Amino acid sequence: MYGRTESASSRFGLLAHGWTPMRLGGIVEQMHTLARYPMPTTIRPEAPSDEDPIEQLTRRAFLSHPYSQQTEQFIIRALRADHALSVSLVAEEDGRVIGHIALSPVGISDGAAGWYGLGPISVEPKCQRRGVGRALMERGLAELRSLGAKGCVLVGDPSFYSRFGFASNPALVLEGVPQEYVLSLALGASSARGNVQFHPAFQATG
Ligand SMILES: CC(C)(COP(=O)(O)OP(=O)(O)OC[C@H]1O[C@@H](n2cnc3c(N)ncnc32)[C@H](O)[C@@H]1OP(=O)(O)O)[C@@H](O)C(=O)NCCC(=O)NCCS
Repeated sequence: MYGRTESASSRFGLLAHGWTPMRLGGIVEQMHTLARYPMPTTIRPEAPSDEDPIEQLTRRAFLSHPYSQQTEQFIIRALRADHALSVSLVAEEDGRVIGHIALSPVGISDGAAGWYGLGPISVEPKCQRRGVGRALMERGLAELRSLGAKGCVLVGDPSFYSRFGFASNPALVLEGVPQEYVLSLALGASSARGNVQFHPAFQATG
C-alpha cells in the first residue's frame, strides 16, 4: 500500500525516472500552449505526390454529406486528366494534406468569358471548424483574381459561402439545381447572365 503523503507521480514511479512535479508541470503547460496555437497551415498549389492524399481526404470529407453522391474525388481526377484544374490548392499541416480546393472553367450561355466553378472543397473531418476552409476559399479566390477571372459560381450551402460574398443571382441558372443553391460572385465590373455549364468532368462517377 502507498503512504498517505505520497504524490500520484511517485506512486506511478515517475519520480524514480526523474519526472519531478515541476517537469511534469512544464509539459502540461506546453500541451496547453500547443492547444492554443495549433500547427501552422500552409496553403500551396497541388504537387503530383498530392493526388492520392487529395482523393482520400475528399472521399472522407464528403462521406456524411447529405447531398453527396460520393463522386467528388472522381470529379477532381477527371478535371486534372482534362487539364481543367485551373486552380488546385492544398492545405498542408505537418507534411500532411488536410484540405483541398478545386476551381475549373465554366461556360455561361451568354458567352461571358472568364468565369470559373468552385468545388469540390474539402477539409479533413477532424480538422474542420478551425479556419482551414476559410484559408482555402480566400487563397482560391485570390488565385482566380490573379488569373483575371470575371467571376465564380458554385453549388452549395449559402450559410457557408455567403461569408465570402457568394449569393444566389436569378440571372445565373444551373439546370436541375434549386436557385438558392446556385451561388455566384462577380470578381470584376462585368456581369454574366444565362445557363451555367460546369465542366463535363462533374459527371464523372469512377
Ligand atoms: C465546408 C468545409 C470545407 C468548411 O471547412 P472548415 O475548415 O470547417 O471551415 P472554417 O473552419 O474555415 O470555417 C469558416 C467559417 O465558416 C463556418 N462554417 C464552417 N462549416 C460550415 C458549414 N458546414 N455551414 C455553415 N458554416 C460553416 C465556420 O463556423 C466559420 O465561421 P466564422 O467565419 O464566422 O468563424 C468543411 O466543413 C468540409 O470539408 N465539409 C465537407 C465537404 C463539404 O461540405 N464541402 C462543401 C460542399 S458545398
